[in-house]
Amino acid sequence: MAIILAIESSCDDTSAAVLREEYLLSNVMASQEVHRQYGGVVPELASRAHQQNILPVVSQALDQAGVTVEQLDAIAFTRGPGLLGSLLVGTSFAKGLSIAIGKPLIEVNHLQGHMLSHFIRVDGREHREPHFPFLSLLVSGGHTQIVRVNDYLDYEVLGYTIDDAVGEAFDKCAKLLGLGYPGGPVIDRLAKEGDSSAFRFAKPNIAGLNYSFSGIKTSLLYFLRDEIAKDPDFLENNKVDICASFQKDLIDILLKKLILAAKQTGIKEIGLGGGVSANSELRERISLEGKKRGWNLFLPELRFTTDNAAMIGIVALYRYREGLFTPMDVAPISRAADYYQINK
Ligand code: KG4
Ligand code: ZN
Repeated sequence: MAIILAIESSCDDTSAAVLREEYLLSNVMASQEVHRQYGGVVPELASRAHQQNILPVVSQALDQAGVTVEQLDAIAFTRGPGLLGSLLVGTSFAKGLSIAIGKPLIEVNHLQGHMLSHFIRVDGREHREPHFPFLSLLVSGGHTQIVRVNDYLDYEVLGYTIDDAVGEAFDKCAKLLGLGYPGGPVIDRLAKEGDSSAFRFAKPNIAGLNYSFSGIKTSLLYFLRDEIAKDPDFLENNKVDICASFQKDLIDILLKKLILAAKQTGIKEIGLGGGVSANSELRERISLEGKKRGWNLFLPELRFTTDNAAMIGIVALYRYREGLFTPMDVAPISRAADYYQINK
């Protein structure tokens, strides 16, 4: 019965979780409010806040789990991708603790965490999980990918964004509309009151399973510039319709390529993951598509959509079972492309 402590510090949330096998015993988060006033994550401030949060967050995770450090079998941490200064805090803390208690260190790829979040079990809660191979639509603030997951630790990226991530498109739209950061949750809320057929924005025309979100963002920028030039109150008077229309277009783009991937691969097991998978319209529309197409669909619990250490812990468990431990001279990896390179 392996007991694993997992630490996640790739962006602006400090999180620690304890798992006993697949069962989650605790999952503590400290979100960093300091970035709101800047309209986005300020890397320098994120590292400092992680440094302040990490010890209390880890202590609380152990307390809530009713586990002492001596009972831990391994210490897991997010090695990347993410902000380097943020990753360094979690990596260094995990190394220090691993040395102190003489238990192995396990590195985890953050993206794999989002993909495998469906395997986290919660005591007393009904559990469903995808069968392999399944397709993962991974939608976050930093990444947008369609991944064929062959096994816990074996996956293949079938499509990815050639420019912005879909979460970035949500966040940039919110910034243009003066709605603050992070933008996804606000747009999600306002879109519910709007008419999604009010406006249309330029859709990308990219071959295969890749995505692009920079064109639609620019289309929104020019649209707002032109409309505001004609009517200075345009933005204020149309905010909810713009949110609903822009969100609909983003979801159309996401679903189009996912449907294509399912057709091309013949795979009907589909999992959604990443921060944007909290979006209520995306959850609704992917469920409708799933029903129509006979998919066996898996939506993560809301608390496992945005960054959390529980998902790092579940990947760590599968690495632990394979004896995939990490040496002490390991360094964090900022870019996803570099991560894939070393894991080949
Ligand atoms: O997975 P995540 O927490 O961090 C990364 O790994 O990037 O994703 C954060 C992203 C942000 O862009 C945020 O705006 C978006 O997830 N997000 C949402 C919603 N909740 C969070 N986007 C749309 N609708 C939401 N409800
Ligand atoms: Zn993430």
